[in-house]
Amino acid sequence: MNLLVTGGAGFIGANFVRYWNAEHPGDGVTVLDALTYAGNRANLDGVTHDFVHGDIGDTALVEGLLADRGIDTIVHFAAESHVDRSIHGPDAFIETNVLGTHSLLKAARTVWLAGNGRPHRFHHVSTDEVYGSLGPDDPAFNETTPYAPNSPYSASKAASDHLVRAYHHTYGLAVTTSNCSNNYGPYQFPEKLIPLFLINALHGRPLPIYGDGMQVRDWLHVDDHCRGISAVLANGKVGETYNIGGGAELPNLTVIDTLCAAADAAFTADRGLAARFPDAPAANGAPTASLKTTVADRPGHDRRYAIDERRARDELGYAPQRTFAQGFAATLDWYLSNEGWWRGVLDGSYRDWVATNYAGR
Ligand code: NAD
Ligand code: TYD
Repeated sequence: MNLLVTGGAGFIGANFVRYWNAEHPGDGVTVLDALTYAGNRANLDGVTHDFVHGDIGDTALVEGLLADRGIDTIVHFAAESHVDRSIHGPDAFIETNVLGTHSLLKAARTVWLAGNGRPHRFHHVSTDEVYGSLGPDDPAFNETTPYAPNSPYSASKAASDHLVRAYHHTYGLAVTTSNCSNNYGPYQFPEKLIPLFLINALHGRPLPIYGDGMQVRDWLHVDDHCRGISAVLANGKVGETYNIGGGAELPNLTVIDTLCAAADAAFTADRGLAARFPDAPAANGAPTASLKTTVADRPGHDRRYAIDERRARDELGYAPQRTFAQGFAATLDWYLSNEGWWRGVLDGSYRDWVATNYAGR
């Protein structure tokens, strides 16, 4: 296969390129990424790929890439991806997630359908947030759950899902879509819950818990997500959508308590951590949990997400391979071993954005 991976310098995209390199070393991989605050060339260090710095909204650029490089598969990750940012500034989400995805679809249609007619696949990576929020006893989201997005982020992803669907039904573009739950793992930008709280804990900064902390998410290790996308590319039916979950539905407070206990244990096991992170409570004999701080709830905060993974399991043979305990332990190790990566990220534009938007938190 000859892949165009959009957003391949971001968290999941970079993990996917790494995964694909290892599983399919003979395949071509072109990464198209605009290198927003969330994109980082260092995420692809040591990985075989061609890198194109550009915007998915540049239809002519994408048409050229598809035609000149003989691309047969697009795996579309590029997006604005953080709910809190979408609350502060929704415009970029409409620009990239809706208009950008549409531009990509137009380019694919021009080159693959009107142009060379080659067998192709447009795989769109989406989120379970398009289905809205569940009550405690509601059944989990399946692929026929009606869309009910609640944040500008999820609304923009829902719009892009509908456009992908429409390009299949109207024009015959060979599309698949996956809607997955909350990812975590290496290279995740420290604005999302797990890496933000880990790095705050190492610096002795507050862990800002929104509202009562009893919101429920299904946690999916990014390697399992990559496995799921790979299964859709191999065996998914064109025109279908697949929900991909981690089988780990947990309230935020449980995730946070796991994180605090794991940080304490890591400092006990490795005395060198106290010298590296002298401001961490665990370096001074205090529990990491002492940093837990309740802050105002996120406006419109979805209460619960849960994934019914039966279609992916029955049709694709997909099942997550890591429990949350295993995946979380590996993730903590990665962040402790890759201090240079996250310090580099924090030295960039993110720090300024946090200072502006989270002043006083
Ligand atoms: P991310 O924010 O870490 O990375 C996004 C990447 O897209 C960055 O490299 C960025 O530079 C690039 N990008 C942004 N705008 C672009 C544009 N206009 N043109 C080209 N590149 C652009 O995001 P992520 O967490 O890796 O998420 C990847 C995809 O998976 C997104 O579509 C997201 O909606 C979806 N998703 C994420 C999660 C999650 O938990 N992170 C869960 C479900 C679905
Ligand atoms: P997040 O990682 O932003 O993912 P999403 O909003 O897409 O689910 O947040 C995960 C959960 O953690 C969500 O319920 C919001 C909560 N949260 C906090 O309580 N504090 C924080 O600082 C962040 C970033 C998230």
